[in-house]
Amino acid sequence: VRVMVIFGGRSGEHEVSLASARGVIEALEKSGRYEVLPVGITREGRWRVGENALSELEAAARRAIPQAQEPRAPATRDEKLPNGFGDVDVVFPVLHGPYGEDGTVQGLLELAGVPYVGSGVLGSAVSMDKITMKKIFAFHGLPQVNWVGLTREEWECDPEGWIGRIEALLGYPCFVKPSNLGSSVGISKARDAGELRAGLEEAAELDRRIIVEQGLDAREIEVSVLGNEWPEVSLPGEIVVRNRDFYDYRAKYTEGESEIVVPARIPDETTRAIREIARTAFRAVDAAGMARVDFFLERETGRVLLNEINTIPGFTPTSGYARFWAASGLSYEQLLDRLIRHALE
Ligand code: ADP
Ligand code: DAL
Ligand code: MG
Repeated sequence: VRVMVIFGGRSGEHEVSLASARGVIEALEKSGRYEVLPVGITREGRWRVGENALSELEAAARRAIPQAQEPRAPATRDEKLPNGFGDVDVVFPVLHGPYGEDGTVQGLLELAGVPYVGSGVLGSAVSMDKITMKKIFAFHGLPQVNWVGLTREEWECDPEGWIGRIEALLGYPCFVKPSNLGSSVGISKARDAGELRAGLEEAAELDRRIIVEQGLDAREIEVSVLGNEWPEVSLPGEIVVRNRDFYDYRAKYTEGESEIVVPARIPDETTRAIREIARTAFRAVDAAGMARVDFFLERETGRVLLNEINTIPGFTPTSGYARFWAASGLSYEQLLDRLIRHALE
């Protein structure tokens, strides 16, 4: 089976995608059953095709040259996709965040008529935008925190009005987020009006759409979902954050700053509720193939609240998505086989 793995991309999660793609490519190659065609997308949206694509993007990420200064590479022949997508049986988009996890690449693959791993255009787009995702979950009666959505334009026209409304509706602490991002990029916790204003300014720089949520004191529990029409849900895992205020980018990707405990030590009935909600959430957004569904377990009340669905979750062998499956009896290699099989269904 010839698999095109697409990685990198124009989002703030570019490096995370490179790590995920390294895991996927190495495991597919090691299995001996797949022929892998790596395709990297640079931060500027240029496509690199071939076996050196991943190491080239990794080297660029290590140099961390500011975007504007990155030299424009000459347009070489290998930047073109050989025969379009005609040379591959299936595509595995290992892209996180906008321009990859949001339906854009999925739309291109639909146009090309090539099968691909994961959610389609609708499921990807709906799950990427937290505001829209929450509206759909609300329609299905799924439990969530209170939240307020606004656009950059609305914020800029009436900052004091918004601060007042958010204080009245949500209070402190609250979490300010770009509606379309991941890996906690641009997310801040606000404890007073000053932090709220700063958080809104930061989020508005990264996205046109902004969401503010009531802040909870909660444990964080996650499950992995796999399948199409009748998805299976893994055992739950718990994220334990050390030394950080919340599960921010640093806590997620710096060794020792957080730990994943699988299976989560929570009551059986809580596990049952979480798995049921995860399945409903997956279907509600019309996800396919895979997703990781993240929850809050409120410390004081034991209430389960749905946080979000990620249609292309972090995908290294030590990422939550794979670890929850490993604990449920499915190895990383088996997981990749299953995902490719579901893509071809
Ligand atoms: P991302 O899509 O970037 O992962 P999340 O919405 O999952 O964004 O938020 C990232 C992290 O911020 C969460 O894992 C959690 O630690 C913290 N967080 C987000 N929203 C809340 C909230 N409403 N209450 C408490 N913590 C939150
Ligand atoms: N957005 C990151 C990759 C995740 O959800 O795992
Ligand atoms: Mg998250």
